[in-house]
Parts: sequence; C-alpha cells; structure tokens
Amino acid sequence: MKIRKARLVVLISGSGSNLQALIDACADGSLKAEIVAVVSNKADAFGLQRAATAKIPQQVVDHRKFISRESFDAMLAEVVDSYRPDLVILAGFMRILTPGFVDRFAGRMLNIHPSLLPKYPGLNTHQRAIDAGESEAGATVHFVTNQLDGGPAVLKASVPILEVDTAETLAARVLVYEHKIFPLAAQWFCENRLHVRENVAWLDNTPIPEGGIFYNKLSEPSISVEL
Ligand code: GRF
Repeated sequence: MKIRKARLVVLISGSGSNLQALIDACADGSLKAEIVAVVSNKADAFGLQRAATAKIPQQVVDHRKFISRESFDAMLAEVVDSYRPDLVILAGFMRILTPGFVDRFAGRMLNIHPSLLPKYPGLNTHQRAIDAGESEAGATVHFVTNQLDGGPAVLKASVPILEVDTAETLAARVLVYEHKIFPLAAQWFCENRLHVRENVAWLDNTPIPEGGIFYNKLSEPSISVEL
C-alpha cells in the first residue's frame, strides 16, 4: 500500500535557511513529507530562490498591498489552504498572524523561534540574551497559538553563549540547531506522533513537559525520546 506523504506549506520572509533544511530532509528521507508550496510575504526573499531550485511551487502575498492585517491574513489563508496542507510551517515568517488565520490552522501549524522560550519572545532575541548575561541561548519549535511565540513547546536545542559572542555569531550557532530540530519536529507530526490537545503538546501519547523536549538530551541517531 502506498502511504500518502504529508503535505507541507512553508511560510517564509527571508533567507529561508530553515526552509532549506526542510527541503534537504525531504530529499534525504528523514522527513517523509512533500513541501507542496512556499509562500512569502516578500517578493525578494532569498528562500524563494531555494524553492525554485527545488522545483517547489511558490507564491508571494505582499502584505503591503492590503489595507489591514485581517485582509492580508484572509488572502494568505486562502492561498495556503489552496494547497491542502496537513502541516503549515512558519520558517522565519516575520508577520504577526491574526486569530482568524491562527484558528484556521490550529493544531497543524509549527513555528521556530530563536530563543529558549518562554524567554525572549519577539525580536532581537540573541542580543537580549547576551545583554541579560545568559549563559545559554537556543531555539524552540512550538505549536502556534494566538499568544505570540507562546504556544506549547515541542522541541528545544540550547547552545552556550561565549564571552566573545555577538548577536551575529550567536545567531549563526543557534541556526545550526534550528536546522536539526525543525525537520525532526515536522517528522514527528507527519508520523502522527505529535499532537496538540487543550494547549498541551503530546508526543507518542505522552504530554510533553511545558519547556519542551531538549534535543541535546536525545540520543542520536535512534531518536529515542526521554521525557
Ligand atoms: C530564524 O532564526 C528563525 O528562528 C527566525 O528567523 C530566522 C529565519 O532564518 N524566526 P531563515 O530565513 O530560516 O534562514
């Protein structure tokens, strides 16, 4: 029996290195899914070139052409829905989404945020972590809810903050881990192992602790999960 691959729609605004990690994971089979579309709110997002190279259909929905957040989100939702996604992935999508959009894709939308949530939601996370004298930083994959960067955490990875770190060097080191945890969380979802129920994320019928699962503690490559 041929099992249908999960359909992913990936939303981007910029470089798309996380998109590339997802494309690569689909290509090497570690993510058993098909990216059916890449949607950007910016026509010049480099990620669109990555999509073109991988022959993935792409669309631009330019937020500046809409008179309100709601009207932009309504069009965005129509475009995303037209690809019948099983999972919507926010991979560096730099727009705050309205409840209309979030509710439509509730339970099947993942975001990655470059901090150890709930610390440092929002922008400039790396600089804020350095300024606060934190000893570590990281990234979090979480389900998207109407609370900005506040949905149930799934998977986290941490990296030490070095004395010599700038926001740029730290961001680069965190990105390496973003590229590992995002495809892995997506694969869990596509395998039907990952769900959200009543604002709690579950993996293999076990509630994920509030802080998420720490990638650094997973034993590779078998991916046995210690909760
Ligand atoms: C990543 O750090 C992601 O966590 C944040 O924006 C950045 C996007 O990078 N939301 P890229 O476009 O995937 O290269």
